[in-house]
Amino acid sequence: MEKIIILDFGSQVTQLIGRRIREIGVYCEIHPFNKIPVLDESVKGVVLSGSPFSVRDPQAPQLNLDCIKGKLPLLGICYGSQLLANNYGGCVERSASREYGRAMLNITDKDCLLLNDVPDCSQIWMSHGDTITSLPAGSHIIASTPDVAAAAYRFDKEETYAVQFHPEVYHTVHGAKILENFVCRICGCSPTWTAESFVESSVAALREQIGDDKVILGLSGGVDSTVAAVLLNKAIGSNLHCIFVDNGLLRLNEARDVMESYRDMGLNVVCADASETFLSVLEGVTDPEQKRKAIGKTFVDVFNAEAMKIEGAKWLAQGTIYPDVIESAAVGAGSSKIKSHHNVGGLPKKMHLKIVEPLRSLFKDEVRRVGRSLGIKQELIGRHPFPGPSLGIRIIGEITREKLEILRGADAIYTNALREWKVNAEGSRDTLMCAAEPSRPASTLYDAIWQAGAILLPIRTVGVMGDERTYDYTIALRAVTSTDGMTADWYPLPYEFMAKVSNDIINKVRGVNRVCYDISSKPPATIEWE
Ligand code: XMP
Repeated sequence: MEKIIILDFGSQVTQLIGRRIREIGVYCEIHPFNKIPVLDESVKGVVLSGSPFSVRDPQAPQLNLDCIKGKLPLLGICYGSQLLANNYGGCVERSASREYGRAMLNITDKDCLLLNDVPDCSQIWMSHGDTITSLPAGSHIIASTPDVAAAAYRFDKEETYAVQFHPEVYHTVHGAKILENFVCRICGCSPTWTAESFVESSVAALREQIGDDKVILGLSGGVDSTVAAVLLNKAIGSNLHCIFVDNGLLRLNEARDVMESYRDMGLNVVCADASETFLSVLEGVTDPEQKRKAIGKTFVDVFNAEAMKIEGAKWLAQGTIYPDVIESAAVGAGSSKIKSHHNVGGLPKKMHLKIVEPLRSLFKDEVRRVGRSLGIKQELIGRHPFPGPSLGIRIIGEITREKLEILRGADAIYTNALREWKVNAEGSRDTLMCAAEPSRPASTLYDAIWQAGAILLPIRTVGVMGDERTYDYTIALRAVTSTDGMTADWYPLPYEFMAKVSNDIINKVRGVNRVCYDISSKPPATIEWE
C-alpha cells in the first residue's frame, strides 16, 4: 500500500498532519525523526513536521536529509522548512517581528504544483520565532506574506518543498488543498484509503495473521472494543471469543442492552456477571484511589478466570488505537517514550497469548467511520466515553446498593433526556456539531456533548415535598465539551432542559431532593469527580 511518512520533530500538531493526509484518503504513518523507517517503494513522499525547537538551538533535533532529499518528494513544514534551509546553505535567524497567528499568503510562483488552486491572499497560520533570511542555492520563493518573504519555497529540479506556515491547522483556510497537492499531485498517491478499503485489507491481513487460531477479546461497550470485535468477527467468525464483564456498577440496563446489541451483531460473546464480587470487594471502601484499585484488580481477576475457560486460545485482541501507539519524538531528551494501552487492564499471563490490535493504525474518528461502514448502529458508535470503574467513581464515598439504584435512576433520566433533546432545528442560528466527529452536525444534545453523566453526592439535605419534610441526597449533573478528555469545559445546557431534567429526577427518583449543575472546567477540576 502506498504511503506518506511524516517525520516528527516534536510539534504539538504533528498528529494533525497525519489526520489531514488520511482525510484526503491517503495512508500515512508518523515516526520520530531519529527513527526513519525503511523507505521502500511503498513510500511515496516524506513530510517534516514542526518542532518546539529553533534550528539555531544547539539541542535542536538534527537530521541528515541526504537519503531523502532529491530522491523522494519532500515537504518541510515550519521547523521542517527551516531545517531544509539551514542544512542546505540557507540562513535562519530570529524573526525581527512577531510571526504567530493569521497572515495572508501571496503566491509568487503561479506554476508551482504545491499551491495549485490555492487562491491568492488566502489566510494561513504562522507559528514560529525564527525566519529564513536567505534561501539555499538552487531554490526559489513560491509564496510570501507581507512580513515573511520565504513563506513557501521550493528546490529547483527536484520535488522538495517547504512552507514556514502550518497547512495542517484549520486556520490555514486552504491547508488541506496544499497537503492534497503534495500527496496526490507531487507524490502521485491516489486517494484510496477509505473506511471500506481499510475493512477489506484488514480482514485479509487478520485472516493471514491469525489463521484458525482462537482469539479472546474484552468487550467494554465502548466504541474501540466494539469496532475491533466486529472487524475480527468478519475476519475469523466464531473463533473470536468475546468477554463482557458486568461489574455491577454499570448504567441502568446497560449490561442487558449492550449484550443484546452484541448478539444482534452476531458476536460470540459471554457475559461474566461479577456484580456480587465487585460489590462485596467495595464494601466499606471510601477512598477514590482504593476504589479504583479494587475495581481494577477485581476486573483483571474476573476477566482472567473467564479467559482461562476458552481452551486453546492463542491471541488476545485489544482495541488500541493510533494515538496510543505513536511513538512521540522525545526531542532533546535523547530517548523516545512509547505509551502503552491495555484496555482489558491486564493480560492472562499464564496463557502466553500473543497480542493482536486491529485498530492500531486508526485515529478515533477513523475508528468511528470504520464502525459505521461495518454496519454498527449509531447508538453504539456515538456513545460518550465511560470510565472503566463505571458508576463506582460517580458515587462519591462508599458504594451501596441503595445509592447505586438512586444514581442509576437519575443518570437514566438525564441521559435519555440528552438523547431526546433535538438540536439544529430549522431556523436555529448556529449549527451545533458532533463533539466526537466535528465534521458532522449533531442532531441531539447528546451528540453535541463530549461526555455527560450524573454524580451522587454523599450528603443529605432538607427539602419539602407536599407537606412532608424530606432529608435526601443531591445529584450533580456533569456535561463537558472536549476533544480528547485531557482538557474540558462545562457545556452550556439550555435552561429549559435543565429545568425539565431537575424536575423529572426529583419527582421520579426516590431519595433525591436536589439537583445541581457542575460548572467547572478541567483543569483545575477533572471530568469525573473521583
Ligand atoms: P478525568 O476525570 O481524569 O477523566 O478528567 C478524563 C477521561 O477519562 C475517563 N476516565 C477513565 N477511563 N478508566 C477509564 O477507562 C478510568 O479509570 C478512568 N478515569 C477517568 C473519564 O471518564 C474521561 O473521559
